[in-house]
Amino acid sequence: MSVSLVILAAGQGTRMNSDLPKVLHRVAGSPLLHHAMQAGRALGPERVIVVTGHGSDAVTKAALAQDEDAICVQQEAQLGTAHAVAQAAPLLADAAGDVIVLYGDTPFIRPETLEAMQAARARHAVVVLGFEAADPGRYGRLVTTGDRLERIVEYKDATDEERAITLCNSGVLCADAKLLFSLLAEVGNANAAGEYYLTDVPALARQRGLSAGVVICDEAETLGVNTRAELAAAEAAFQARARAEALDNGVTLAAPETVFFALDTVVGRDAIIGPNVIFGPGVTVESGAEIRAFCHLEGCHISRGATVGPFARLRPGAELAEDVHVGNFVEIKNAILDEGVKVGHLTYIGDADIGEHSNIGAGTVTCNYDGVMKHRTRIGKHAFIGSSTMLVAPVSVGDHALTASGSVITEDVPAEALALGRAKQVNKPGLARKLFDRLRALKAAKAKG
Ligand code: UD1
Ligand code: CA
Repeated sequence: MSVSLVILAAGQGTRMNSDLPKVLHRVAGSPLLHHAMQAGRALGPERVIVVTGHGSDAVTKAALAQDEDAICVQQEAQLGTAHAVAQAAPLLADAAGDVIVLYGDTPFIRPETLEAMQAARARHAVVVLGFEAADPGRYGRLVTTGDRLERIVEYKDATDEERAITLCNSGVLCADAKLLFSLLAEVGNANAAGEYYLTDVPALARQRGLSAGVVICDEAETLGVNTRAELAAAEAAFQARARAEALDNGVTLAAPETVFFALDTVVGRDAIIGPNVIFGPGVTVESGAEIRAFCHLEGCHISRGATVGPFARLRPGAELAEDVHVGNFVEIKNAILDEGVKVGHLTYIGDADIGEHSNIGAGTVTCNYDGVMKHRTRIGKHAFIGSSTMLVAPVSVGDHALTASGSVITEDVPAEALALGRAKQVNKPGLARKLFDRLRALKAAKAKG
């Protein structure tokens, strides 16, 4: 059965107290919107519609970054959740199958839960995702008879008796596309908030003699973000789950509570992650690689048998082949390190290709930026780059070549050559002694006045 998603992301999120639209605030390095989109994506949706409003341009850009096929539609005025979903009607007029409505500020709905809702559609025309709330607060309440959903009542409109219900509305709803839009056309705004409520849909379905049902999920899944405190709580919840999953998947975490994962982090079995390691977006660590303490990684790939850190920074485009060693205070960006390369200490490698088993000495810098453009450094296999070599790109060093420590390499080095790019050393016998004697005498004369 085909399904399309409608993701509501028009609200400003006043309580965030922010210039940034709420759905662009980040959890695990990604906008809240991406979390919602990713959960829905697991269903293989035919179309993904994102309803934007506040900060529409920025939200549209973020939506397209996650899914270039997403279609964004602007809701000019925020007249309520039913009005928001109705904005998608023209875009889904010819869509067969179901629509699932998600909220852009609710990041933790599991794909399995959405699948359960789809399955429940075999029994009900409209399916709503509910949860037993520890503190039902201002959530909409689900009024049920047995497993049938009679209607949803918003907190503001509820009687005391209805407010005593603890089964609450998550906001996620699934229905046949044609039916949903035809029901939405009947939704009015004669309620306490004067808004068009999506939550009127189940009762309208019932009036047509159709059935509405509830799928229940854990409250943790429906956690929504409305304030900075809730954003922090969402981050904590995400990290707790990601750490538990990593441990379950056979990853060693020496101090799990100090490791921070991104939404898309992939870590293989038997990888070892030390304390205080931060994963930004786009990192893959293969089985058996080791990331030592205090590393910061983003947009990089670390192969089997590689060791990284402590205190290393891998930036986007860092590609480490098998058994590469990157040591302390090393930064690597947009560079390919072939099998067995060693970059042990205090080094910057940017925009470079390094052939297998080459050794990069301490303090080496690829001088990749001339102030206007970036240039590439190419190092062959089994090369030995002496400590504190400045490689002024564009430049290349051949296979089995050697650069002398302290060299500034501005010309290509042929294979098997030794390159010396530094001033010749001159020794002046006894001159240090003489110099110090003179300086000490000067100081003593000054002290006397
Ligand atoms: C909504 C539900 C409530 C449920 C709660 C769960 C309705 C009427 N109520 O209430 O039953 O318990 O969520 O969190 O649906 N939005 C738009 N355009 C609008 C209005 C809202 O895009 O015109 C978006 C918001 O940006 C947000 C989502 O829809 O992402 C929910 O809107 P919000 O106003 O927060 O609904 P609640 O009052 O929390
Ligand atoms: Ca809300």
